[in-house]
Amino acid sequence: MKHKFLCGVRSPVWVLTVLRRKCCSTIEKIWNSCCSVLVLNILQRSFVDTDPLESFITSISITLMPSDPNKNSFDPRFLRPSATFPDHVLAEIHRAADQGVYEIRGFGAKRSIPTFDDLVFLGASMSRYPLEGYREKCSTDVVIGNRFAENPLHLEIPITIAGMSFGALGANAKESIGRAASEMGTSTTTGDGGMTDEERNSSKTLIYQVLPSRYGLNPVDVRRADALEVVVGQGAKPGGGGMLLGQKITDRVAAMRNLPTGIDQRSACRHPDWTGPDDLEIKLHELREITDYKIPILIKIGATRVEFDVALAVKAGADAIVLDGMQGGTAATQDVFIEHVGIPTLPAVRIAVDALLEMDMHRKVQLIVSGGIRSGADAAKALALGADAVSIGSAAMVALGCNRPIYIEDYHKIGTAPGFCHHCHTGRCPVGITTQLPELEARLKTKQGARWLRNYLATMVLELQTLARACGKSHVLNLEPEDLVALTVEAAAMARVPLAGTSWIPGQ
Ligand SMILES: Cc1cc2nc3c(=O)[nH]c(=O)nc-3n(C[C@H](O)[C@H](O)[C@H](O)COP(=O)(O)O)c2cc1C
Ligand code: SF4
Repeated sequence: MKHKFLCGVRSPVWVLTVLRRKCCSTIEKIWNSCCSVLVLNILQRSFVDTDPLESFITSISITLMPSDPNKNSFDPRFLRPSATFPDHVLAEIHRAADQGVYEIRGFGAKRSIPTFDDLVFLGASMSRYPLEGYREKCSTDVVIGNRFAENPLHLEIPITIAGMSFGALGANAKESIGRAASEMGTSTTTGDGGMTDEERNSSKTLIYQVLPSRYGLNPVDVRRADALEVVVGQGAKPGGGGMLLGQKITDRVAAMRNLPTGIDQRSACRHPDWTGPDDLEIKLHELREITDYKIPILIKIGATRVEFDVALAVKAGADAIVLDGMQGGTAATQDVFIEHVGIPTLPAVRIAVDALLEMDMHRKVQLIVSGGIRSGADAAKALALGADAVSIGSAAMVALGCNRPIYIEDYHKIGTAPGFCHHCHTGRCPVGITTQLPELEARLKTKQGARWLRNYLATMVLELQTLARACGKSHVLNLEPEDLVALTVEAAAMARVPLAGTSWIPGQ
């Protein structure tokens, strides 16, 4: 039974007004001397005929009203958010309850984890001399893959573009990336799904991925590649396989993967023809034979048991290692994987470098670090910790216009807004990057995209040089852990650099 009096109660101010209007001054006196709950309970008992349970429930509901009659807002105590069940957790449980399947999405981890932001550089002053920005050179070139390969990669900058599949990205995005990378003298990488002509023709240095799925892998393209990258894992999903949902599988994407159009594709999580490091060594020999020992072979791992994986990759014969931390982006992965598997890039770099040093392989087997690299500062810190280069995926997409506040209606149509979008898996990217729909893809003009990405890369390089010069380095690879301190105990422990203002490295 509905409570007649309480029906439509909005606030104590409202209650008071009604009382004033409807009842005698005695009630107002009671109001002034008693709390609102008491008054309303009295009123309830005198005016309304309800059963005891309902009146008890009603009195509880009355206590949820604002306690101060002059305030037209709710009592903050009753609107206290739960740390265990914040809004997004509640919404996810509701979604899971409705649908009965896990959430798949794009973009990287959204939770807060230790990052390079927790480190700062100790610029030069009295005990170190900085370099003069306008007169003194700070070089950025790097050689990748000179352990066994006859033709290692000579890159002008230590920032490469990570493997992102055609299928996940549209052809225009791929071409824009290829053009920008070539203009900046760096490499770009294919992905699950093979090599497109647009990508090959626009990329001066193209690394061809060999993935567990083998989608799009063929000997012709192996010979067109400047390097091979055997993908063991990805930071966003170490231990998991690729995904491309049916809405993105056009005839072209399907033909390249030898699979049907419009059907969800799930890639294998491990290579079918090798099960351990000894097999992998044989596999790498095969690939070297196919490519006449000319081009480098990289091994890409998602950051988990980094120490062992790096050692095994070196033993298997890798020329270089790509290490992808848990922040690493993806076009489509289970949310539970993105947020709960792997270790952050920050500790991963240091563990990898230590493993290489222990084998006397540091700088001999190059280390390329990815996962959450966004700026010249991130790149500089990764290099200072011992990486030879960094690689970017998500940041390259952002430079191309990902999450830009344009076509806002189209963000809304897929249930998101600029700044929050992680909807690459839907194939309805509002800015035309991760889509195969011609009308959306046309929004990303290749010339414009290439210009944006080139400018962004150029900015990163300037930032990187600025920081290196400030630390007195004439080459960005001369940055070293000694140039860094940490702002948090966690970062100090993970990066193994002192906590700022102390000489303390936790654990040492
Ligand atoms: C749209 C997209 C597609 C991707 N596709 C692949 C892929 O096919 N193969 C692969 O090894 N990694 C893939 N990745 C992961 C990237 O290669 C890289 O590891 C990751 O993006 C690096 O982290 P970042 O995004 O924070 O820069 C993809 C990432 C994105 C954002
Ligand atoms: S804007 Fe496009 S590329 Fe960026 S997250 Fe959304 S769907 Fe993905």
